[in-house]
Amino acid sequence: MPERMVERRDFIRKTAAASLALGLGAGGVVLFGRPEQKPVRLGFVGVGSRGTGLLRVALELGGVEIPAVCDINKQHLARARHLVERKGKKKPDGYSRGPEDFRRMVQREDLDAVVTATPWEWHAPVMVAAMKAGKYGATEVPATMRLDQCWQLVETSESTGMPCMLLENVCYFRNVLAVLNMVQQGLFGELLHCEAGYQHDTRYVKIGPQGELLWRARYALDHTGNFYPTHPIGPVSWWSGINRGDRFSHLVSMSTKSAGINHYVREKFGPDHQNAKRKYTAGDINTTLIRTENGLTVTLYYDTCLPRPYDLIFRLQGTQGIYMGTLNKIYLEQRSPQPHTWEDADPYLQEYEHPLWKQHGETARDFGHSGGDYLVMQQFVHAVRHRIQTPIDVYDAATWSAIVPLTEQSVAGKSRSVDFPDFTRGRWKTARQIEFYGI
Ligand SMILES: NC(=O)c1ccc[n+]([C@@H]2O[C@H](COP(=O)([O-])OP(=O)(O)OC[C@H]3O[C@@H](n4cnc5c(N)ncnc54)[C@H](O)[C@@H]3O)[C@@H](O)[C@H]2O)c1
Repeated sequence: MPERMVERRDFIRKTAAASLALGLGAGGVVLFGRPEQKPVRLGFVGVGSRGTGLLRVALELGGVEIPAVCDINKQHLARARHLVERKGKKKPDGYSRGPEDFRRMVQREDLDAVVTATPWEWHAPVMVAAMKAGKYGATEVPATMRLDQCWQLVETSESTGMPCMLLENVCYFRNVLAVLNMVQQGLFGELLHCEAGYQHDTRYVKIGPQGELLWRARYALDHTGNFYPTHPIGPVSWWSGINRGDRFSHLVSMSTKSAGINHYVREKFGPDHQNAKRKYTAGDINTTLIRTENGLTVTLYYDTCLPRPYDLIFRLQGTQGIYMGTLNKIYLEQRSPQPHTWEDADPYLQEYEHPLWKQHGETARDFGHSGGDYLVMQQFVHAVRHRIQTPIDVYDAATWSAIVPLTEQSVAGKSRSVDFPDFTRGRWKTARQIEFYGI
């Protein structure tokens, strides 16, 4: 959609706030009319494993500057500053005076946006501070683990007029976008069901080299439910038009008991290690069922504490056919040659290659997570450069992240049904397109 240039600053500010409030910002309204040739200036908070990866992508995008970096870990901070300098850019200023030092950083006038890849608990405080300081926000996933912070993100974005993007890289996977293209062209007919999950053995980032609990495992001590829903639910939401014509109505959730971390620590560090005997509240496999207002159901899995190959599942089913990501198979009643027989999905993924992949796929595939890491940052930086709404907006961030506390409530209440809040306050009823920039 062409971007509408708007000239008067005060009008633009009002338009920005109104656009966000109406959910229209993604329509391409230029928020502040910043000339395109100026660099996009990003500040990073949290440059551990993921933040460093995102920083590397940002440095490859061109037209990006990194004036400031913040991390409580001085080695991580030094590594990030050095990385920028090695790219032939000015060494960024470092912020490392404790866990709230990002508040000083976000006040800088030479920043357009703040990207955060800290542990989960800091995402929302960083994003809120950034938006209040007039900066775009981009947060790693989930945006928050708390319902009150979902609302805080939405309300801060609405009151400041500043967008906040969830950096959900899986939404930009090649198969996810090809399937989206097929959904939009009606190949699956009316959608009825999706199945997806974050099924990834991540014990290696939960338990440290001495058997100690790293931040993800510490969270499992006194929480339960689905801690990492956005990788699978982001694509499902795009396919099914969540917040763009449909919304999640309610969920029920159930968890197994916990045994995986105890077993892992026992095997690696001996039965007497304190973390081999400790009690973890989080069950190893969480299964959640979600129903939407329009009558679609989603089965969602969270499975990260047991040995297993990686699998996001991605089953999508409608009145005319089914795609099954795990099998990489498809069946379309109108097209498949043999009734009741799977076809290889590859020719379809090729035929329905998304325009974003046609345009940027060659570059994207050199980066992590099947190219998703490149595309998600490219889309964010494009939005900041043109002062337009981010393609994954604060309502998506809140809706997808809310699954963390809602599943916890359901599991704690013997799998009782829990309603989703409507973060859009009724605006989900308006169907609208997902925006793709730079194509
Ligand atoms: N999208 C993806 O594919 C993907 C992949 C991995 C991780 N992640 C997400 O990225 C985030 C970071 O994960 P990670 O694996 O890089 O963790 P990590 O532990 O390697 O890095 C976190 C960094 O944040 C720093 N930090 C902690 N508190 C801080 C604070 N208050 N202020 C500044 N810095 C602070 C730490 O010192 C560390 O350098 C998490 O939210 C995780 O869920 C996303």
